[in-house]
Amino acid sequence: MDKKNIPRHMVLVLFAYLFLNTHTCLGADSISANQSISGDQTIESAGGVFVLGFFKPGNSSNSYYIGIWYKEISEPTTVWVANRERPISDRFSSVLRISDVNLVLFDESKIPIWSTNIENSTTSVSVNAVLQDDGNFVLKDGSNSPRILWQSFEHPTNTWLPGCKFGYNNITKTSQRLISWKNAEDPSPGLYSLELDTSNRAYTILWNRSKDYWTSGPWTGQIFDLVPEMTDSPIFECTYISNINESYFIYYVKGSSTKYPRAVMDVSGQIKLLNLSPTKRWDAFWSQPRQQCEVPYFCGAYGICNEKSLPFCNCLMGFVPKSKSYWDLEDYSNGCQRKSKLNCDNVNGTGNGERDKFVEMSSMSLPEARQYVTAGSEAECESTCLNNCSCTAYAFDSDRCSIWIGELLNLKQVSVDERKGETLYVRLAALELRSPKKSNGGVIVEVVGGAVGSTVLLGLIILVILRQRKKIFGPGKAVAEASLVAFDYRYLQIATNNFSEKLGRGGFGSVFKGKLNDSTVIAVKQLDSVSQGEKQFRAEVSTLGTIQHVNLVRLHGFCSQGSKKLLVYNYMPNGSLDSHIFETKNSEVLNWETRYRIALGTARGLCYLHEECRECIIHCDIKPDNVLLDAEFCPKVSDFGLAKLVGRDFSRVLTTMRGTRGYIAPEWISGVAITAKADVYSFGMMLFELISGRRNSKNHVEGEVSFFPIWAASKIIKGCDVFSLLDQRLQGNADPEELTRVCRVACWCIQYEETQRPSMGQIVQILEGIINVNLPPLTRSFDILLDNSDPSDIFFPESSSIQSILGLETGMATTTS
Ligand SMILES: *[C@@H]1O[C@H](CO)[C@@H](O)[C@H](O)[C@H]1NC(C)=O
Ligand SMILES: *[C@@H]1O[C@H](CO)[C@@H](O)[C@H](O)[C@H]1NC(C)=O
Ligand SMILES: *[C@@H]1O[C@H](CO)[C@@H](O)[C@H](O)[C@H]1NC(C)=O
Ligand SMILES: *[C@@H]1O[C@H](CO)[C@@H](O)[C@H](O)[C@H]1NC(C)=O
Ligand SMILES: *[C@@H]1O[C@H](CO)[C@@H](O)[C@H](O)[C@H]1NC(C)=O
Ligand SMILES: *[C@@H]1O[C@H](CO)[C@@H](O)[C@H](O)[C@H]1NC(C)=O
Ligand SMILES: *[C@@H]1O[C@H](CO)[C@@H](O)[C@H](O)[C@H]1NC(C)=O
Ligand SMILES: *[C@@H]1O[C@H](CO)[C@@H](O)[C@H](O)[C@H]1NC(C)=O
Repeated sequence: MDKKNIPRHMVLVLFAYLFLNTHTCLGADSISANQSISGDQTIESAGGVFVLGFFKPGNSSNSYYIGIWYKEISEPTTVWVANRERPISDRFSSVLRISDVNLVLFDESKIPIWSTNIENSTTSVSVNAVLQDDGNFVLKDGSNSPRILWQSFEHPTNTWLPGCKFGYNNITKTSQRLISWKNAEDPSPGLYSLELDTSNRAYTILWNRSKDYWTSGPWTGQIFDLVPEMTDSPIFECTYISNINESYFIYYVKGSSTKYPRAVMDVSGQIKLLNLSPTKRWDAFWSQPRQQCEVPYFCGAYGICNEKSLPFCNCLMGFVPKSKSYWDLEDYSNGCQRKSKLNCDNVNGTGNGERDKFVEMSSMSLPEARQYVTAGSEAECESTCLNNCSCTAYAFDSDRCSIWIGELLNLKQVSVDERKGETLYVRLAALELRSPKKSNGGVIVEVVGGAVGSTVLLGLIILVILRQRKKIFGPGKAVAEASLVAFDYRYLQIATNNFSEKLGRGGFGSVFKGKLNDSTVIAVKQLDSVSQGEKQFRAEVSTLGTIQHVNLVRLHGFCSQGSKKLLVYNYMPNGSLDSHIFETKNSEVLNWETRYRIALGTARGLCYLHEECRECIIHCDIKPDNVLLDAEFCPKVSDFGLAKLVGRDFSRVLTTMRGTRGYIAPEWISGVAITAKADVYSFGMMLFELISGRRNSKNHVEGEVSFFPIWAASKIIKGCDVFSLLDQRLQGNADPEELTRVCRVACWCIQYEETQRPSMGQIVQILEGIINVNLPPLTRSFDILLDNSDPSDIFFPESSSIQSILGLETGMATTTS
């Protein structure tokens, strides 16, 4: 294992790279006793992966640091910083060099401000410091079998690279910590840190080195208990070592499919796994805690965290960010401050003597440190708070009065439809509440200002706009390929009866039923949070508008007004497929013919997305909930193309977390680039459900999942009677040839290796009966599974997911004829 830490080559690069990121490469991968680094000079690892030198994070500051970054990536990405707490301002008169046995950074006044701090006891032969291709910067003594004096891997900053041991040193009794930067432009230690809890063999994230708010769960020997998705990773190999001297984890990358993976304790308070996408952007394919608002105090005092707004933090009404510049750098920890002093604090009355008031905030998850006081009524609760100048807020619920003394921390806005929220009354100076002026906080504008409503004038303007629009679009849909209708928000509000009839909730927002003036029934999707600018949003929407296929839900129009982004679709009277195949209560059982048509139609819709659009669109979330049915039960795939529209970097992370585990292809979790074959996998999983009428993954007991598809696949491959898999409610009424075809396609789709799965085009051809599939021979593992005659008896811990079992055991080779 240690062997991997030894540099592969120590070849000196003999030519100097000029103009490299405005840095001048010293032409070497090391600093020897007689050399130093100053100004623009850098050294570069032998294979040209990493560069070390002075860098300046961000634009504004004039602070320079010694750091290590990726040579190839234009967006500077620093993996290690030496003097993170003590920047220098003039890099040309500062020097990093070897002094005795140490690497020392001397500032402008030749004062050492950073050092490797090794004891100066033994006599040194020839000390040099080498930057390796794994990102480790190693200080060594001697040329043959050198002694390692110090290495940057033992002193990580915010990044944990593959091959780096990260844990606890039992000799020095020190824990290594990944500590986040303060903000994007300040590498000094921030509030969030990751460290190993040796007693539990688990990693924890702490706030301010004290309060823990996330744990990986103990190491089970293969995964961390609370990170079951690790099982699915064919990419990382993780080992835990514990002996008398040290306890640590180390991870390696298995193949070469992942480029520059790294784990970072991010300024967001989340631990993130990133790699470089083929388009050379950093792709966070995993992060914890999943929700930003689970990071404590993320928005600071009087800040409100809202998972669905961008940025996540806003100030309470009547408050402004304490430090605008930090706030703009997405460092919200300083929180917000009052715009106007409370009258209560102001005994000598510089104000006009009006008593403080309370603003009502609904749908809040209440701040921490509440105190219960006795109060018989809400009015009494309010006056208790009003009469105590330290009281900043109260809440009254089920005859309980709570008050808050001092700063309000950990305020969270929950969405209205979660119904978990409570109402909080926040104390404000009376003058803040005098007129319904808009505050800076976008959230407040919606929650409070939204209730105030629009003025008559605004209404008139809208009317005029609507009239004009009618003129432009005339009869609207009659015009073939009519461009999308740009709806007005107020109009949609009326059309949906103020968003009262909710049809469901997809990955990107809630969907409501509505009716246009011409009686067309529509489905309106309120997009949760859109980070795209107006122009990009409109461009993406119009691209979506051009995607038209009989098996795809048709986009009718959109609305884009400020933060309000909505999409308007044709309404599908028969809802989504899941309500017909799983539920028995009110829906009729779908007959086989309909099921087969749905399978074929869905495949055609996906084939169009994959192969016939101008740009290949990968759906990424194929499941019965996203297949809608029109009045004739013709399937229409919904929810496609939205990730790009919403402009989410982390769409992949979010999708993974959307609770559709049973459908996600294995490569999805491992972080390699996703291809259309991920949809093929999900489609196969869906077919099993369509055949059997049962859910593939049902969480019976917490942490357990049944494996119907594996059981079914083994039966199919073994040539058992496919009718035994058929939904019992159909009482055997199905075309045997069609049933066999669907079963074989399903098996073919869910193979571990994406290259072995068919394309959507092939699937359409098979279902149309144009080509046939020959099934592979049965592997031994399936035999074992087959001994269990009832699939609902087969359980595995959730961590050993369908994918991993199939992946380990199959290796199906499939052919067509
Ligand atoms: C470093 O400098 C010393 C004298 O200053 C000299 O003796 C030695 O050879 C030099 N080493 C290298 C590698 O240039
Ligand atoms: C730095 O400045 C450039 C141009 O002024 C701007 O495009 C870039 O976004 C800025 N970077 C940061 C991190 O503020
Ligand atoms: C380290 O040792 C050298 C001689 O070996 C001596 O000249 C130097 O002053 C020592 N440095 C410190 C910081 O003790
Ligand atoms: C973090 O903890 C230290 C004491 O360990 C305290 O002085 C400091 O104020 C805390 N930081 C914050 C932001 O509360
Ligand atoms: C750490 O070292 C102490 C002796 O210094 C030893 O008693 C203890 O068992 C060691 N811990 C582990 C986990 O090996
Ligand atoms: C622990 O460290 C000592 C001294 O460095 C070394 O001799 C011993 O082999 C180490 N033990 C293990 C298990 O690595
Ligand atoms: C209020 O005024 C009185 C007398 O003018 C003064 O003694 C007191 O310090 C003032 N209090 C505050 C809070 O300003
Ligand atoms: C305000 O309330 C707190 C908590 O109930 C209490 O400790 C404090 O003494 C009160 N202050 C006044 C001025 O009543």
